[in-house]
Amino acid sequence: MSNLNEYDIQFLIEKLQKGEPIPEDYKYKLFPIKQKEYELVYAGKMRKEDILANEDGVFPVPLQVEKVFNGEEYPSGNDEWRNMIVFGDNLQFLKTVYENKDPLIKDKVKGKVKLIYIDPPFGTGDEYDANRGQKAYSARAKGAEFVEFLRRRLILAREILADDGSIFVRMGYHFGHYIKVIMDEVFGKENFRNEFIVKRGAPKAGLIEQFEKIKSVGVFYDVLYWYSKNVNTLFNKILRQANKNQKVGKWSSFKKIYDRPTMRYEIEGINLKKGQWMWGKERAYQAVENYKKFLEITNRTKESLEEYWKRTGKCLEFVRRNGNSIQYWVSPRESVLVDNNWLDIKGYDHVTDYPTENAEELLARIMQITNSGDLVLDFFAGSGTTAAVAEKLGRRWIVCDIGKLAFYTMQKRILTIQDSKDLDNPNKKYGKKARSFITVNTGLYDLKKVFELKKDDYIKFVMNLFEVEPVDKRIAGIKIDGQKKDGYYCIIYPYWQFKEAAVDEEYLEDLHSHIGKKIGERLYIIAPANYVDFITDYHQIEKTRYYFLKVPYQIIRELHKVQFKKFRQPQSKRNVNDLEDAIGFHFIRQPDVETRILKKNGKLEIHITKFLSNYLEEETGNELSNFESLAMVLIDKDYDGSAFVMDEFYFAEDLIGKKKEETEEDIREDLKHKEKIIIPLQLEECGEKIMVVYIDIYGNEFKEVFTL
Ligand SMILES: C[S@@+](CC[C@H](N)C(=O)[O-])C[C@H]1O[C@@H](n2cnc3c(N)ncnc32)[C@H](O)[C@@H]1O
Repeated sequence: MSNLNEYDIQFLIEKLQKGEPIPEDYKYKLFPIKQKEYELVYAGKMRKEDILANEDGVFPVPLQVEKVFNGEEYPSGNDEWRNMIVFGDNLQFLKTVYENKDPLIKDKVKGKVKLIYIDPPFGTGDEYDANRGQKAYSARAKGAEFVEFLRRRLILAREILADDGSIFVRMGYHFGHYIKVIMDEVFGKENFRNEFIVKRGAPKAGLIEQFEKIKSVGVFYDVLYWYSKNVNTLFNKILRQANKNQKVGKWSSFKKIYDRPTMRYEIEGINLKKGQWMWGKERAYQAVENYKKFLEITNRTKESLEEYWKRTGKCLEFVRRNGNSIQYWVSPRESVLVDNNWLDIKGYDHVTDYPTENAEELLARIMQITNSGDLVLDFFAGSGTTAAVAEKLGRRWIVCDIGKLAFYTMQKRILTIQDSKDLDNPNKKYGKKARSFITVNTGLYDLKKVFELKKDDYIKFVMNLFEVEPVDKRIAGIKIDGQKKDGYYCIIYPYWQFKEAAVDEEYLEDLHSHIGKKIGERLYIIAPANYVDFITDYHQIEKTRYYFLKVPYQIIRELHKVQFKKFRQPQSKRNVNDLEDAIGFHFIRQPDVETRILKKNGKLEIHITKFLSNYLEEETGNELSNFESLAMVLIDKDYDGSAFVMDEFYFAEDLIGKKKEETEEDIREDLKHKEKIIIPLQLEECGEKIMVVYIDIYGNEFKEVFTL
């Protein structure tokens, strides 16, 4: 090691032998920085190679298709492509794409993504306004932690871009400059294309104006950083609508101040000593001819130059002599090339009710650099603006988000896209149904490996997981495998016997015909999730509810042998963006939910009397109280029996019945003291069936359908 002399080597050996720390000065001698003029240095910055080799403890995860939408109307076609809404942590998802093994994405995504747009949480650590003045944003990770959070994802993002792909990253003023430095490192300074300014919510000047002196002024814009993967790539033009003046044709001087002698020649009897003409000789002469021809024709037709230009296909150019000057005709323009000031369009919008929803026109402007059929990715997808615009513009798309509200908001947005605004004419509806898309879960479990477990291991494993005590019992000839703490029995669906069958209505009817009269109100059935044909969590026949305990969800922990953090779902809207560096799995244990639906004087009410997450609270080690872990209730008021299309959502905070502005701790305290939660619904807005999804803070869901 040429950086170290004899003395250094001896000194280091001694330090190491004594187990003493190595002085900071040796950092650069031991790990010299190659080819970098400067870089951002902070605690916890991991080497790119280590991140790509999963040394950060985050691994690729299996992708599981949850549901196919519009599959019949729009079969996936020859290339077997379906657009995707992915639920899960984006780092895991990006690593899965990078690994390029999962059959769902193998050879279809890595190296094929033409455009990535992301609008990550801005890492401010404090709350600030989004679109309608509501507090929408609170990103918890601070400083270096936030920068590294994003850097790891950007490193993966670069790897999966197509060679001619590029990325747009939206940032606020708090961290934008750090992220720009990081992007220089990750993508290379030479790949920086532009920094754009885009509108954020208008600053509240009112408050500042009350004071004599100020500390600072309001903030009007966010920034977008545009980086390409390769220096030489050229992109389609990004255009914006022309303004009034640009929409009419006008004559303008043909003389330019640049000074290229080859561009000086005689035209209509005028020559130049200095400066230059705008075009080369041939082009200019042709334009002179065009104008003379027009004069000839207009004598007869009396049409204006603009009318003539339109009639002849909008492609002719004209040059004329006017007094002592030469002029060329600037044709009327519908659109002009943008510069990097994008304050002419909206930055945020509120088509959905999701905080920090970006404006569709912003995404439509960006997507001009791509072509129809190109693959577009947004892995901080939120309300799914990128997906909606890509869908409308005929691009293929993948979006990913870790929040349940985002997941269901996007699902609804795409399923009802026909009713949303047309991009070209906002007074019109878009009118077309979405092409086929799938919803995908990440990080659940590796089903194949579960199936490889020997039968006895599997039984032991799932009993443990769902806390079922084994019993040796038969009821009406049916073997009962165990009993839950609540006293109800449980059977383990023997999928190894029925590889082609599933837990469906026929199976339950048959089971019910044997034991229905003897089993009581409830029977648990443990089965791998894809062996259960119901999307709800129980199915009722007469007085018995058959509850499905789907899948050994914890298997992923067993398989990867790493300690996962559970990711948390927010309990109030303003904390939607708290979800951050969460790696791990979801659906640990289905919450225990008891509800009733009541019809009174033309009104409907859902009464929730019990909502219990069935495990120890992670941080405190305390048992969770009733309602304490409730995060959200989502409602489809007219459930069609197959797809859950969210109509309404309530955060736990909305269900407490108090004014807002509480902290998360206050919300939990209030929830603990609730005896019942009532959600009123308008009967006339409801269809025959209502589907409700109850979600706990760890993302566990309980789904039920009420038939009116
Ligand atoms: C500012 S919002 C994006 C808004 C989006 N551009 C739109 O138009 O609605 C940021 C999103 O990042 C998501 N998010 C935060 N951490 C994440 C992670 N680790 N993986 C995936 N999504 C994450 C949040 O749930 C949130 O929806």
